[in-house]
Amino acid sequence: MSVLLTGGAGYIGSHTALELLREGYDVVIADSLINSSYEAVKRLEILTGKDIKFYQIDIRDGEKLDKVFEENDIDSVVHFAGLKAVGESSVKPLLYYETNIDATISLCYAMEKHNVKRIVFSSSATVYGVPDFSPIPEDARRYCSNPYGWTKYMIEQILRDEATARGDWSVILLRYFNPIGADASGMIGEDQSGIPNNLMPYITKVAVGTLPYLRVFGNDYNTVDGTGVRDYIHVSDLARGHIAALEYGKDFVGSEAFNLGTGKGTSVLQLVNAFMKVNNIDIPYKIVERRPGDIDEYYGDPSKANKVLNWYAKHDIEDMCRDSWNFQKNNPNGYKE
Ligand code: NAD
Ligand code: UFG
Repeated sequence: MSVLLTGGAGYIGSHTALELLREGYDVVIADSLINSSYEAVKRLEILTGKDIKFYQIDIRDGEKLDKVFEENDIDSVVHFAGLKAVGESSVKPLLYYETNIDATISLCYAMEKHNVKRIVFSSSATVYGVPDFSPIPEDARRYCSNPYGWTKYMIEQILRDEATARGDWSVILLRYFNPIGADASGMIGEDQSGIPNNLMPYITKVAVGTLPYLRVFGNDYNTVDGTGVRDYIHVSDLARGHIAALEYGKDFVGSEAFNLGTGKGTSVLQLVNAFMKVNNIDIPYKIVERRPGDIDEYYGDPSKANKVLNWYAKHDIEDMCRDSWNFQKNNPNGYKE
């Protein structure tokens, strides 16, 4: 029996594949490599000593996806595949709706056809929009502020409707907060091409000398030090959350959402200072204008995942900073030679 990971060559998918393989699961990866590299899969094979069945396909192609299900004994799916750049989604909304939603519908058709009834989906804290308060529980009001967020919102609904219609499906929606860090081996990590949008990849590119300084987007927010506050979670903790969800899904019918976060907020400057201290590296920064669309502060309430999935985030901010730098330092050009 195998777990199919769509988008399994990407940042979170590769870390989840690694944890699954370490726990003795068989995995199959289907990824178009549009935003990732086959090198990540090769490194998973080196780290685990196992061969990984890999299909370079766009999962919107139903015929190719059928072949993946025909050739493997798949009993559950973790669905990571999709586009994720918030800013780009506002410039190219149709591309985001088309890619993310069509991919999910194509996957559901294939699951129906091949009688696969369990799916774990990569949702996001972005479905809470501008939250009324933190920590945010799963039943908080949901409303999105960009097309990327709406694709997550809509896919959650599509999967819930599918669970209701099928009657015997298990649909687990995992709402991630801000994943950072890398596997402690330093072999796999986040490899954002070009100038990164997100904070930690930007910090590591400054640390490695690719970018001259960090721009801190505003220090006049109503937060501990005026800079934006987020709930950063180590990607390896997040990866283990998928295993907990898969195990829970074995005896569960219906649909259920879980926050995967630490429940703690960290400001931009707190993260930068922790990074400098733990890695003994200077990160020059300048305070610049707020980034349009940014929220001052939010963090999740993970107590439902703690109780129901028996999942807890183990790593602290220092671990996240150390491991992010470890990957970047070992791979100054990411997965490129
Ligand atoms: P990523 O870009 O590294 O991984 C996504 C993978 O999906 C890539 O390998 C890409 O090549 C693949 N892909 C995209 N479209 C595809 C398609 N049509 N067919 C096959 N493969 C396709 O991103 P990530 O950070 O690993 O995120 C994984 C999932 O988690 C995404 O759905 C993302 O929206 C979600 N998420 C990410 C974050 C975050 O901050 N990283 C936060 C919340 C949710
Ligand atoms: N920031 C900077 N400088 C940078 C980049 C970010 O100061 O160069 C600040 C932002 O203003 C924000 C914080 O760092 O206060 C975090 O920003 P990120 O871009 O790393 O993360 P966001 O919380 O804005 O968004 C991320 C993902 C979204 C996801 C959301 C919720 O990019 O896809 O978390 O999970 F929806």
